[in-house]
Amino acid sequence: MRLKPIVLFGFVVMVAGCADVSKQAPAPTQAMAEASGKGLDRLQRGHSVYLLKCGECHEAMMPDDVSKDDWHVVVPGMAWNAGISEAEEEAVLDYILAAKSR
Ligand code: HEC
Repeated sequence: MRLKPIVLFGFVVMVAGCADVSKQAPAPTQAMAEASGKGLDRLQRGHSVYLLKCGECHEAMMPDDVSKDDWHVVVPGMAWNAGISEAEEEAVLDYILAAKSR
């Protein structure tokens, strides 16, 4: 079993990659709610749907990874993929746009 250390190393890198806190979608804040004009409740709902559903098939895309315009196009398609309701879809989009830093 001379290959074992290499396999183990790969595993550790994978796990460490998943635990990278900087890659977590930010939790909604009062400041985000005020800046976006959406209620904090709504952003929190969108955030939980996002955490629950949007990492099911691929690593969840961070709000900053995709442009505002593209999020408007992508979320409806992904909502269909995720089997979420229209209300949940709108909450997810509101959350993502509010969480974008640029
Ligand atoms: C049932 C599986 C599934 C679920 C659930 C899902 N996605 Fe996806 N997603 C995909 C697949 C497959 C692709 C790549 C092909 C494509 O673009 O359709 C993708 C691609 C993407 C992309 C890249 C699109 C592009 O054009 O570059 C983004 C952003 C994205 N998903 C966001 C989300 C969000 C946000 C959610 C939660 C609402 C979500 N996904 C839920 C399957 C899923």
